[in-house]
Amino acid sequence: MANIDFGGTVEEVITADEFTLEKARDVLQKERIAVLGYGVQGPGQALNLRDNGVAVIVGQREGTPSWDKAVDDGFVPGQTLFPLEEAARQATVVQFLLSDAGQSATWPMVRKCLNEGDALYFSHGFSVVYKEQTGIVPPENVDVILVAPKGSGRTVRTNFLDGSGINSSFAVHQDFTGRARERTIALGIAVGSGYLFPTTFEKEVHSDLTGERGVLMGCLAGVMEAQYNLLRKHGHSPSEAFNETVEELTQSLIRLVAENGMDWMFANCSTTAQRGALDWAPRFRDAVVPVFDDLYESVVSGEETRITMEANSASDYRAKLQKELDAIGGSEMWRAGAAVRSLRPENRRR
Ligand SMILES: NC(=O)c1ccc[n+]([C@@H]2O[C@H](COP(=O)([O-])OP(=O)(O)OC[C@H]3O[C@@H](n4cnc5c(N)ncnc54)[C@H](OP(=O)(O)O)[C@@H]3O)[C@@H](O)[C@H]2O)c1
Repeated sequence: MANIDFGGTVEEVITADEFTLEKARDVLQKERIAVLGYGVQGPGQALNLRDNGVAVIVGQREGTPSWDKAVDDGFVPGQTLFPLEEAARQATVVQFLLSDAGQSATWPMVRKCLNEGDALYFSHGFSVVYKEQTGIVPPENVDVILVAPKGSGRTVRTNFLDGSGINSSFAVHQDFTGRARERTIALGIAVGSGYLFPTTFEKEVHSDLTGERGVLMGCLAGVMEAQYNLLRKHGHSPSEAFNETVEELTQSLIRLVAENGMDWMFANCSTTAQRGALDWAPRFRDAVVPVFDDLYESVVSGEETRITMEANSASDYRAKLQKELDAIGGSEMWRAGAAVRSLRPENRRR
């Protein structure tokens, strides 16, 4: 446990320096860990656990592309890969990594497989916090814990392979065994977290739903589209509008912000860009404040959960989603984007 000053607020965080991988392996030695679900997070966490020397089995619906992917990744049917129920039955730690809607659908089966003292592990507070809508109320005789990587499952894996890690929050919702915290931290280190920071199930789900609807995706997609459309309306070419809106951001500026922070970015651009960006930033900030207020309220009230659950359980969800995605992919902006990407030197050389 290290006390780190985050801009004036001291928070306790954990890295593999304080809680070593050897210690994590030790804590998990007697556990039978089952990762249920081999979608996006499942593979990232299962493969990192395995490569970190922790015995792990995978539970997945048979006869699906996800099952085949698990086989391709070296999980062996009947040994380390099982149908969901069989894996859940064998486990002392159930890593519930089905989609959130899938967790709700399979909960009656998973609940039956939990034994006293098991740990039920989530990577999102969603199922437990919105229990009225998901129906997931864990029994009192198990630990209920969370490690939530703050990144896609794909980068949980690729960052691990690169020797870095994705930061994760962790929380204990229910400590039946008295070992819940130790189990959580050990799992957080073993799945390859960069550093671990404490949260609660509520705080995790509220910030996560806000973030993905906000700056990480919803807001980002919205403002990129607004700027692209503005430039097009004023006669700029698609190539110019796309480069000025997306390509320069993703290929240059955001990488520098990731390395050095926004103050450095403002300090290291042309004085023309600097003055204008510094002046306009507060106007954009203030313009979106009411939208963010609405968003947070909609998250906390459970409205976002209601919308998600309803949409996901519709039988034509995938078909409708595909139509939506096709409309985005087929829009001028993202077709221009595909052309711009194809012109990157590394893509031209292929
Ligand atoms: N996506 C991320 O990178 C990310 C990041 C942080 C946290 N999380 C959290 O991690 C958890 C897993 O998310 P994810 O994005 O990895 O999910 P996902 O890719 O959507 O998960 C799909 C998995 O769930 C299974 N599944 C879905 N519905 C099912 C059902 N009704 N019955 C049986 N299996 C079902 C799928 O099986 P089939 O292949 O057979 O359909 C597949 O194994 C969630 O709690 C999520 O909030 C995700």
